[in-house]
Amino acid sequence: MAVMTAEIGIVTVSDRAHRGEYEDRGGPAIEAWLKEVLASPWQPVSRLVPDEQPQIEGVLKELADECGCGLIVTTGGTGPAPRDVTPEATEAVCNRMLPGFGELMRLESLKVVPTAILSRQVAGIRGSSLIINLPGKPSAIGECLDAIFAAVPYCLDLIGGARLETDPDRLVAFRPGATMKP
Ligand code: MTE
Repeated sequence: MAVMTAEIGIVTVSDRAHRGEYEDRGGPAIEAWLKEVLASPWQPVSRLVPDEQPQIEGVLKELADECGCGLIVTTGGTGPAPRDVTPEATEAVCNRMLPGFGELMRLESLKVVPTAILSRQVAGIRGSSLIINLPGKPSAIGECLDAIFAAVPYCLDLIGGARLETDPDRLVAFRPGATMKP
């Protein structure tokens, strides 16, 4: 069976990175984390958008519907400031939400920083794509992905997204019923 290359959407949501006031460090941090953890073929489809709900929704739809990204990870715009609208955009384009992702990321992040409670990050499904919000701080990216990623490959199996394999020395993907290797 031919091994498919999984397209993974990486979306940085930031007014200042979009204006070029600083370099985007969130998108590259997501890409570096995935490079370290994924063992199956994949390629990033990266986008950088300002904190504008219609633009965020547009790019999420493009990545899910046109680029065929089974997994889309966003960074930024999850906080309580007036221009933070990534969770609203995510909810608007998803047909179902998966509250456990946000709950677990906040729970684990609270062990690192008390302001983790300020992130309104969500995750949801659009068709056969899983969309996950991460906070904008680059250090939050590994903290959050480490917390939830064991469940991501099985979630993609269930919704008909790409099949992802992880490097078990780095992170074991949990697939209920899968034969355990000795
Ligand atoms: N989560 C983790 N793991 N690490 C962090 O440093 N920062 C918090 C929170 N979640 C943080 C975190 C802070 S300070 C804010 S304001 C919110 O995420 C929202 O960040 P955002 O608006 O950049 O998405």
